[in-house]
Amino acid sequence: MNQQHLLHDTVPLDHEEIRIKRGVRSGLPVIVVVHSTTLGQAIGGCRLAAYAHWSDALTDALRLSAAMTDKCAVAGLPNGGGKTVVALPRRISPGPAVRRAILHDVADAIAELAGVYATGPDVGTGPLDMAVIGERTRYVFCRPPELGGSGDSSSHTADGVVAALQAVCDAAFGSPLLAGRRFAILGLGRVGAHLARHLAATRADLIVSDIDTTKRGLAQEIGATWLDPDEAFESDVDVLVPAALGGVFTPETVARLRCKAIAGPANNQLDAPATADLLHQRGILWAPDFVVSAGGIIYATAVELHNHSPEQATTRVLGIGDTLARILRDAQQAGVTPAAAATNLARQRLRQAA
Ligand code: PHE
Repeated sequence: MNQQHLLHDTVPLDHEEIRIKRGVRSGLPVIVVVHSTTLGQAIGGCRLAAYAHWSDALTDALRLSAAMTDKCAVAGLPNGGGKTVVALPRRISPGPAVRRAILHDVADAIAELAGVYATGPDVGTGPLDMAVIGERTRYVFCRPPELGGSGDSSSHTADGVVAALQAVCDAAFGSPLLAGRRFAILGLGRVGAHLARHLAATRADLIVSDIDTTKRGLAQEIGATWLDPDEAFESDVDVLVPAALGGVFTPETVARLRCKAIAGPANNQLDAPATADLLHQRGILWAPDFVVSAGGIIYATAVELHNHSPEQATTRVLGIGDTLARILRDAQQAGVTPAAAATNLARQRLRQAA
């Protein structure tokens, strides 16, 4: 062996298994990553999104699957983290036949893992897609109820975010009440739209935005103020609620923020872990995304794996409020960021199980 290699430090592989296949039907890169099975079967959604290069999709899958491990650990689930990402070509969105081909390619990749990993919905997929995946593997959550699944998880994810927002408001402003507080929701996808309706109904003072301007109708319908994504990002609100894609907080963008706190369901909101420290230094309370966004997976696993009733499952989802309150308290006491406190909690659970 080359001496040079031994002299260099090697970045350790943190993930248990990485599979990259060119789908036999679609010809597209199908990436399935199992980050950890320390706590149990790895779970994590299937993302269909456009990337400039398939290796960007791999990078995303690596980070998203690791976040799922922390999400499950902090939520107290007997599951590990994984993720599926299919890199779609840019600008062309697949028609129904191509979509089925993609989903069957995904299903075969998951079936090959023989239960080590199960998928679910994520950005770009929903219950009907899970039904198509379910034609070829049983390791899939959130199929429509008629087919034996727990259905759309987005309203449950939104319920968990509401519980998290109450905990954040309590910690930051001394009251869990959302009425009268100012929020800006960035992204009106499935989860963001549920949240917008909920916050409007609780008489919160609401700004909403999306890169897709056809979503503006929802703002009118619920009496929210519509702003362009950039304006909404910099708006002077109590809580900013990222509900779209990740990577929105970077050293450059953090400098532009005018909010007091951040809590939302988007996965991997920070460009890098150190950005949590920058937010902390600016006095902005950042509720870790992997704590806030666990409602969907908590609900789906409660109903589909543990036979809980919908009511019991919802009670567990709302437990995100207590989990986050505890993390914010721990962070305060230890003089660390909420991100560090949440990561410590996840590591502790993983160590106990190992
Ligand atoms: N997209 C969900 C998440 O990021 C993944 C998921 C939801 C998986 C529900 C299974 C069931 O947490």
